Amino acid sequence: MSRGNVLFLLSGSIACYKACTAISRLTQAGVTVQTVATPAALRFVGAATLEGLSGRPVFSELFEAGRALDHIALARHADLALLCPATANTVNRLAAGLADDVVGALWLAWELKTKPWWLAPAMNAHMWDHPATTASLEKLRGWGARVLDPVDGPHACGETGAGRLMEPDPIVGEVLAFLDARASSPPSPAFSLPR
Ligand SMILES: Cc1cc2nc3c(=O)[nH]c(=O)nc-3n(C[C@H](O)[C@H](O)[C@H](O)COP(=O)(O)O)c2cc1C
Repeated sequence: MSRGNVLFLLSGSIACYKACTAISRLTQAGVTVQTVATPAALRFVGAATLEGLSGRPVFSELFEAGRALDHIALARHADLALLCPATANTVNRLAAGLADDVVGALWLAWELKTKPWWLAPAMNAHMWDHPATTASLEKLRGWGARVLDPVDGPHACGETGAGRLMEPDPIVGEVLAFLDARASSPPSPAFSLPR
């Protein structure tokens, strides 16, 4: 019996390696994790790693043969969407409502009024402080998304400041707390995608 269905979306940040730890911990805790990755995310971690950790093929290409309606089916069956790491680019794209990649299409297909969409930003401190990023995050919050705020610390670029991805353990803790709090509600149907 699955503890819940989590749509785990990755965009192209150096912090994708930390997201892999979170995916591993969630699956070990009995959560069904379906990964989704932008093409940029797959330059940081491979499809084989995501499939190996989650036990399911990663969804990355909107027009992939045989997966044309996956963005609708995945949005329907997931209990929670977690965009982790969320890049500045993807944050700004979601705020603009662009749906020409898998993450954008899932965001627009998501029933935001009834199901949570969380994002955990990871970016350079200047990208984090940029007014475009600030305005986009405000917009996403206003639409009902929850932002798991990044922390201060050293960045891969050598600078120090805000914008570091929250550590995997607290992220996993938040997800499990959410899934367990709804344990009294009827179990969600498993992700069921034609293969
Ligand atoms: C080594 C490297 C590390 C990067 N790390 C980040 C990051 O942590 N956060 C971010 O917003 N962009 C980062 N970028 C830039 C993004 O990968 C780039 O904006 C990309 O277009 C994002 O695409 P996506 O949002 O569709 O995944 C990085 C780029 C490189 C080359």
